[in-house]
This record gives sequence, C-alpha cells and structure tokens, in this order.
Amino acid sequence: MDGSQWPNVNVVLHPVVQERLTVARDKRTDVQHFRRLIGEIARLMAFELTRDYATVPREVESPMGACQGCKLARALTLVPILRAGLGMAEGIHELLPGARMGHLGIYRNEETLDPIVYYNKLPPDIAETDVIVIDPMLATAGSLNTAIDAIKQTGASSIKVLCLVAAPEGIEALNARHPGVLVYTAAVDDRLDDRGYIIPGLGDAGDRLFGTA
Ligand code: PRP
Ligand code: URA
Repeated sequence: MDGSQWPNVNVVLHPVVQERLTVARDKRTDVQHFRRLIGEIARLMAFELTRDYATVPREVESPMGACQGCKLARALTLVPILRAGLGMAEGIHELLPGARMGHLGIYRNEETLDPIVYYNKLPPDIAETDVIVIDPMLATAGSLNTAIDAIKQTGASSIKVLCLVAAPEGIEALNARHPGVLVYTAAVDDRLDDRGYIIPGLGDAGDRLFGTA
C-alpha cells in the first residue's frame, strides 16, 4: 500500500530504505544485523521527516571568508517509546546530535492489547520544540495514541510520528484521535492478526532488537 488514501501518512519509498526494510523483515536476520538495520532505516527516514523544518540564517567564516548558512530554527525532541523505539532513536540521534531525548515506557497487555504506561521522562521545555515520536510498529495505535496524549499534555503541538511498519487499522485509530499528526512510515502492511500483530510485518520488534524472543 502506498498510503495515498491517508493525507497525513508519508510512506518513504526510497529504494535504500526499502532494501533494508526487506532484510529486517527476513526472519533469518540475526539480532545484531537487525539492530543495525533499524538504526540505519530510522536515520534515513529522519532526513525525509525533517525536510520541511524551518531554518534561520547563520553566518560562518570559511577559510576563504564570510559565508551565509543556516541552522534549524527550533530545538528538536526525540521521544522513543520503550523498548523498541530505542533501536531507532540511537540512529536518529547520530543525525541530530543536538536533539533532546525524552522517554516514554509503554507496553501492550498481551491479552487486551491495552497500552500500559510505566515510565515518563520528557524534557521540561518540550513544548517549545519540534517533537518526533519514535516506534517501529504502529499496530492498533494504542501505544502511539497514549504517547501523543502524554506529549500534548505538556503543551507541545508540533508532533510527528516516525515508524517503520504501520497497519491500516492503526493509521485509522491514530487519525481518529490525533488528526493533525503526520506519520512517516516505510510501509503500510495488509492487516492485523487476531493477536494484534502486523501481517506480514516483521514480528515482535522489541524481541528482535534485544534478543528476548
Ligand atoms: C510494541 C511496539 C509498539 C507496540 C505497537 O511494543 O514497539 O510500542 O507494540 O502496538 P500497538 O500499536 O498495538 O500499541 P511492545 O508492547 O511489544 O513493548 P516492547 O517495545 O517493550 O517490546
Ligand atoms: N508490536 C510488534 O512488535 N509487532 C507487531 O507486529 C505488533 C506490535
């Protein structure tokens, strides 16, 4: 699916992203390789997500003289959802080392699929920053919707989501609760199964990142 039926969804179809995503989906890919791929894909996708961020002029002296350049106008906050978001956030932080990092710990109850929040540490000035919420899997959207609720409670309003694989059901649920939030994903897959897993997806992202399967 190319995601064009949802105006707030950007599917990053760049071939370098898609080639890596294919290897990440492969069940034979081991933990070490999987973790490296997730970081690389996230970093590549962050280029696309930050494309429209405003800049302000900045002058520097090159060895040959004054040069007009620019810098990002606003500070950035990366908010990975623990655990699996950590695998992406490390890759993005290499690209945007000046970004603040907030953490939200959320896991799904495996029976009800309800999100359980167990940790919340966001920067005090997050409301003045552009926020990128990071989680590889957008399944039912329970986790991301809860994360965005918590971020909006701080007063933050510039919020984008970066994920790797999204289910149509999750996109619909996120749009219903947070219609103004833009979603960047590398794929929109077919559906959820009866345990709330994305089909074909890539399995349990946290387990594959941290070797806990
Ligand atoms: C996974 C994933 C998302 C969530 C997606 O986390 O990383 O956070 O499930 O599902 P949802 O859209 O239905 O909420 P999980 O609950 O497995 O926790 P973990 O990252 O600690 O493994
Ligand atoms: N969480 C995962 O890690 N994978 C899925 O497919 C759905 C939720």
